[in-house]
Amino acid sequence: MKVSASMLASDFSRLAEEVRLVERAGADMVHLDVMDGVFVPNLTFGPPVIAAMRPHTNLFFDVHLMMQYPDRLVDAFVKAGADSINFHIESAAPVQETLRRIREAGVKTALTLKPNTPAEAVFPYLDQLDMVLVMTVEPGFGGQKFMADMMPKVTAIRKEAGRRGLPLSIQVDGGVNEESAKVAAAAGADIAVIGSAFFKAADPAALTAEVQKL
Ligand code: DX5
Ligand code: ZN
Repeated sequence: MKVSASMLASDFSRLAEEVRLVERAGADMVHLDVMDGVFVPNLTFGPPVIAAMRPHTNLFFDVHLMMQYPDRLVDAFVKAGADSINFHIESAAPVQETLRRIREAGVKTALTLKPNTPAEAVFPYLDQLDMVLVMTVEPGFGGQKFMADMMPKVTAIRKEAGRRGLPLSIQVDGGVNEESAKVAAAAGADIAVIGSAFFKAADPAALTAEVQKL
């Protein structure tokens, strides 16, 4: 699996050093959780903070937008240095059009599903997507427990992408650690978003290497 470290669990007063630590640990991607206080009951950061982190690493920036109107800020996130934009299918954004705008900007596309949203919801968009993010907690906060009952959803999306011959990446996000990453890999996920477990690890490089072996 690829490891995407979620900066939500990092020390926000030292973002430049934290993002360099992610790179030193050998992680594949940086996961950036943008919350608007409307779509989820929490508020984090936006384009200016992502732009401030951008010069400190060459790692892939995957921006996870937990916003009611993600379409309004697509251009701003592209400008800030996003390599992929992940937005929720449950948001108010016009899905097809927003995916098209993201692709036209030269950035990878991804749709995110909350726990109560079925796998089939993304099927109509699969050929427009580089990645699907299956939430394994209710979005809004780090440090929650992994919902193993989301795994059939991962498997269903993997199966449908396979049936259509699409090279889709499937991410899991929420409560992912070495143990739950194994379960997710077996279900068909290929990217583990890891927040608390990464930043609390005594040795983030060792954790990263373990998960990358899966
Ligand atoms: C939750 C965020 C996650 C969060 C995961 O809404 O989308 O990316 O950082 O954190 P952990 O790994 O602590 O569950
Ligand atoms: Zn996230």
